Amino acid sequence: MCGIVAYFGRKPAQPILIEGLKRLEYRGYDSAGLALLEHSDFSIYKTPGRIANLEVILPVPPQKAVLGIGHTRWATHGQPNTTNAHPHVDYTGKIALVHNGIIENYATLKKWLIKEGCTFKSETDTEVAANLIGYFYSKNQTRDGRGCPSECDRFEWAVQQAINEIVGTFGLAILCRDCPETLIGVKKGSPLILGVGKNEFIIASDASAIIEHTSQAVYLSDGEMVTICRDSFSTKTLSNETVDAELKEIEISLDQIELEGFSHYMQKEIAEQPASLETCLNGRIDLKNGRVVLGGIQSRLRELTRTKRIILTACGTAWHAGLVGEFLFEQLARIPAEVEYASEFRYRNPILEEGTVVIAISQSGETADTLAAIEQAKERGATVLGAVNVVGSTIARMTDAGVYLRVGPEIGVASTKAFTAQVAVLSMLAIELGRRRHLSNDVAEGLLKELVAIPNKIKSILTQSEIIRDIAAANVDRENWLFLGRGFNYPVALEGALKLKEISYIHAEGLPAAEMKHGPIALITDGMPAVFIATRCAQYDKIIGNIEEVRARGGRTIVVATEGDEQIRPYADHVIYIPDTCDYFQPLLTVVPLQILAYHAAVLHGHDVDKPRNLAKSVTVE
Ligand code: G6P
Repeated sequence: MCGIVAYFGRKPAQPILIEGLKRLEYRGYDSAGLALLEHSDFSIYKTPGRIANLEVILPVPPQKAVLGIGHTRWATHGQPNTTNAHPHVDYTGKIALVHNGIIENYATLKKWLIKEGCTFKSETDTEVAANLIGYFYSKNQTRDGRGCPSECDRFEWAVQQAINEIVGTFGLAILCRDCPETLIGVKKGSPLILGVGKNEFIIASDASAIIEHTSQAVYLSDGEMVTICRDSFSTKTLSNETVDAELKEIEISLDQIELEGFSHYMQKEIAEQPASLETCLNGRIDLKNGRVVLGGIQSRLRELTRTKRIILTACGTAWHAGLVGEFLFEQLARIPAEVEYASEFRYRNPILEEGTVVIAISQSGETADTLAAIEQAKERGATVLGAVNVVGSTIARMTDAGVYLRVGPEIGVASTKAFTAQVAVLSMLAIELGRRRHLSNDVAEGLLKELVAIPNKIKSILTQSEIIRDIAAANVDRENWLFLGRGFNYPVALEGALKLKEISYIHAEGLPAAEMKHGPIALITDGMPAVFIATRCAQYDKIIGNIEEVRARGGRTIVVATEGDEQIRPYADHVIYIPDTCDYFQPLLTVVPLQILAYHAAVLHGHDVDKPRNLAKSVTVE
């Protein structure tokens, strides 16, 4: 949520910051801004809307400044207007900063700062951070009157004083007019990476804004700050202790973050699923012995095999994957499992009996509620495992062990390839636990063989994009849709409805098909689209009954069915055929046509598929 980027090097900062912001725009896109520092003067450019709007107000040719900070915002405090857009400059005019995250005690701090004579222009929590740093910098003393020690740099010291007052999770990039050769970055909870190039440095919320310039990076830890002074940098804790910075190779490549001929990232990411799933499964399945090898959690498998209960926790699409996981652990491993919304779990004072294992699922590894749920679980002594995509992310680092999804960067706000990889990781884990508990090697081997066949089966679904587009076109004018599935396809019904809602803004409800008659059936009117997942599975006959109930009331049925199932035709206004698989892995296939359906519906409506209104890719606030 919110993207920050900062540059200090030999080249003009303006175009580099703009390119970086475009890469980070998926994190938030309601307003944007830049601050450039040259000859001890700030030039600030801010505007509501997208980065494209910001480009319009920037100087041409670009300013010569080689030091600057930039921001693309997802509003939390205050409307997305020019005043509330970042960068924010403090009341003394000396400090400018950009911020990602939330300052929880901003109201208390603001009150105190106003009493101390500071003035505020915006409604943001961010301006409190700017004023707080400006306050300590100009007073040159702590709240209780101690001055900045002579051996300390005053700008750094002021930042440390201010940050130690702030409660919350955030990343910051900060400039000071008196220090035209210095850039400071701070990480506390929100991600912040330092790219180290030849005579240049880039600080950014994620590696996609860095990779064009260098593949060498320092992943800052929580409570650390970096100070860049012209050609060198140093990393410290917020209490001024030096930290040895470890340079790491950024694991993403430029082509992974380019559109490569696709119109949208979501379209690209849907199409990538055969390859991304293959990468996810690769080297983890030993077909000969019917075993799964998940390096990251191998040492925890004994504990997992004996666990009495598994709790999966996540948000959004990852929660839907968790619901599939619940069914998989119960059915394949015969371990009681429950999926919990992280946002509810964190506040429910949950009971975790000894030996409970918690699995946190997250694409970004930064979702604030999931982070808080993990903290809750750890406080109660549970072992916490992660199924995370972004390497080195906060969740990946705070869990006891984990499995990476390995699907590469997911940029479209609506999650697609991460979902299938999350389900694949949970499937592998459930099979391995099942094999260790009660499944025969033959059964495990058969399941694994089926799992590795899934990527190819997805390929055949992708070829039907045009058919699905026509179905979307025939129904896209309808304002209310239902998505219905049973068993393993019930979580997919929820996911299909979520996909349609988030990018096409059509109201959709996902339900276990049989629940429809307990209320939602009242919504069915003539021509209302109802998407049924009615593949050949344990509950096939039951779901046919549910389809009839909808048709009897004038609903229009869009049915996802198994190839070769001619029996379904009379029940369907539209059919999408997909290859057969066992019940356990159905979600890996049935979700794909629903992703494509939502994609086309959004395109037909003319919406910005990758940047749906009000949403952000990674929700780093509560
Ligand atoms: C946001 C995104 C969703 C995602 C959810 C959880 O709402 O828009 O696509 O499923 O966050 O994100 P995570 O990164 O934890 O999987």
